[in-house]
Amino acid sequence: MKKINIAIDGPSGAGKSTISDILASKLGYIHLDTGAMYRTVAYMGLKAGLKMDDEENIVKLISTLSFKQTEDGKIICNGVDISKEIRQNEISMAASDVSKLLGVRKALVALQQKIAEDKGYIVDGRDICEVVLPTAEVKIFMIASAEERAKRRVLQNKEKGIEANYDDILADIQKRDYQDSHRENSPLRKTEDATEIDSSNLTIEETVEKIMEIVKTKL
Ligand code: DC
Repeated sequence: MKKINIAIDGPSGAGKSTISDILASKLGYIHLDTGAMYRTVAYMGLKAGLKMDDEENIVKLISTLSFKQTEDGKIICNGVDISKEIRQNEISMAASDVSKLLGVRKALVALQQKIAEDKGYIVDGRDICEVVLPTAEVKIFMIASAEERAKRRVLQNKEKGIEANYDDILADIQKRDYQDSHRENSPLRKTEDATEIDSSNLTIEETVEKIMEIVKTKL
C-alpha cells in the first residue's frame, strides 16, 4: 500500500505522542517525536554546562550527538538511554528555551526532514505542518485545554515514576504555551491546511478514529 507522511502539531500535552504511537502501530509506520530531539539537545547542553541561549556552542554540540529512537519509543543519545531524564520538568522548559534558537531549529529540522524522506512517518511537534513537512499528505493540529493537558501529564509522569505536582505542571504548560507560540522562529500556530482536533472531551480511541478517517482518504 502507498505510504504517506502524517504531520501532527499542537501545544505540549495535547496527546500528540500517545496518539502518534497508536497510529504508528495501526499503520505499521514509525513515530518520530521531534520534541524529544529538542529535549535531548537541552539535556545534553545542560550536562555540558552550556547556557540555553549559547547558540554557537549548542549548535556545535548538536554536531557531536547521535540521536536514536528505538521501536518501543526509548530515546538513545550517544549510546545512552536518556528517555526518563529528558521528561523532567526543568528539561521541558530548557527544551522550550533552546527551541527558540534559529541555529538549533535549522540543524534539527534538517535531521527530521532526512529521517522522514522515505515516507511512512508520523512526525509530531510544533512546526511540522509548516516547516518540517509542508507537503505531508495528512496535517493535524491537536489541542486540549491547559487544565486537561496538565491532568494528563500528571498521570503520564506518575506512570513513568517521575514526580508530578499538578499546579507546577499547569504553570509550566501555560508558560511554555506562551513561549512556544510567541517566539520569533517558527512559532506554534495552526496552518490553514491542517485539521484541528480538540481532544479535551474525546477519548484516545475517538481521537485516533477521527485521524484514521482522514488518513484513509489519502491512502
Ligand atoms: O513536545 P515536547 O513538550 O516534548 O517539546 C519540548 C519543547 O520543544 C517544546 O516546548 C517546544 C519545542 N519543540 C519545537 O519547538 N518544535 C518541535 N517540532 C517540537 C518541540
